Amino acid sequence: MKLQIVKGMRDLIEQDARVFSHLEEKARQVFSLYGFEEIRTPILEMAELFTHGIGEETDIVGKEMYLLEDRRGQQLAMRPEGTAAVVRHVVQNQVLKQKKQAKYFYFGPMFRYERPQKGRFRQFHQIGVECFGVESPVADLEMFLMLRQYFEAINLKDVGFQINSIGCMDPSCRPQYKQNLVAYLKESQEELCEDCNRRIDTNPLRVLDCKNPKCQEITDSAPHSEDCLCSDCGDHYQTLKNLLDEHQVAYQCSHRLVRGLDYYSKTVFEVYSANLGAQSAAGGGGRFDNLFEQYGEKQVPSIGFALGLDRLALLCPPVEAAPPGVFVLGFEATAVSKVVAQIRQLGLGCSYDPNSSSMKSQFRQADKAGVRFVAILGEEEVKTGTVGLKDLETGTQENLSTEAAIAKITEVLL
Ligand code: HAM
Repeated sequence: MKLQIVKGMRDLIEQDARVFSHLEEKARQVFSLYGFEEIRTPILEMAELFTHGIGEETDIVGKEMYLLEDRRGQQLAMRPEGTAAVVRHVVQNQVLKQKKQAKYFYFGPMFRYERPQKGRFRQFHQIGVECFGVESPVADLEMFLMLRQYFEAINLKDVGFQINSIGCMDPSCRPQYKQNLVAYLKESQEELCEDCNRRIDTNPLRVLDCKNPKCQEITDSAPHSEDCLCSDCGDHYQTLKNLLDEHQVAYQCSHRLVRGLDYYSKTVFEVYSANLGAQSAAGGGGRFDNLFEQYGEKQVPSIGFALGLDRLALLCPPVEAAPPGVFVLGFEATAVSKVVAQIRQLGLGCSYDPNSSSMKSQFRQADKAGVRFVAILGEEEVKTGTVGLKDLETGTQENLSTEAAIAKITEVLL
């Protein structure tokens, strides 16, 4: 049997694993400042949670979901995103009966059967945030402020926000805009690609973010949703823009920004980096004020976003592993393991050679590990309860009692 990882999936080790942990840790710190609590939902959910919420006509539901049937014949899906699952939690546990607002963040793997390429995987990882129960554009503003603070915390430069408003379901708002857009697209229908021809009837807004150059040329002059908002959505969008200006958050308005999931209304946004190449979106989100209604619930104004960790990791500076401070060199396993245990117990990184190789080989290992101290436990030292402590930075070596050696190490390293 040939042991092989599944296509589009990867093991995260060393630098990648360190960067992921770092990005998650910083997110925890920053998001907590804004009152968000961590939530961990399962990877498997009922498939209909996503088909219903994300929309049957979307690529995610139509082409990319990992579906499976359990032993009882229930249709399950490996979550392609986190929002629907968090909404499921809020509804199932009647969270909004106990409080007016709920704010969650999450990390974790998501699954989409896409064509793998740089920055695009079939198992990828998101940091997501969902805020429930706030209608005011102040909640929208908070998303941007929190993201800005997070990007500062992880030293991420060269990222920008694109924003748009795709309105609401009021007949005078998005339905009217859709009509205007379809009428415009029909004029050049023959020139649009095959996918867009299908989308005119199923999901016309998605024609706006088609990457085909001819389609883009046509949609360059397409009507903008921003110009067709009802007064409520228009006010919401204008207030958000004013707030962003007041807080000096830089953004670009883009009429092409419509997002690939059907649950959005009003504000939508994406985080871009030119350094990501073709997969330039490091994250995206928006309002989903009508998603609860899709599940037969009362309306709950909501907003959130998700960042692609795999993509953020490509943009962030490397995170070095902290080297162990001490290498215990010796040939008597019991004596060595005792000292090693004592040092680790004090909270200091310590390594040794469990194979008790030659002195030369152990010195080489200590060098490679990048330690500051080598504690030598030769035959003589074991007999006398002492340690030959070599400081690799200063090059000095002294013979000390085990206690004195550990005290010296602690003094320097802690
Ligand atoms: P999304 O735009 O589908 O939104 O995904 C968010 C981010 O996940 C993307 O911007 C990208 O960085 C990353 N991503 C998506 N697919 C892949 C992939 N195949 N490989 C690597 N990275 C990927 C959502 O998922 C919404 N749930 C966000 C949201 C939360 N909206 C409201 N609340």
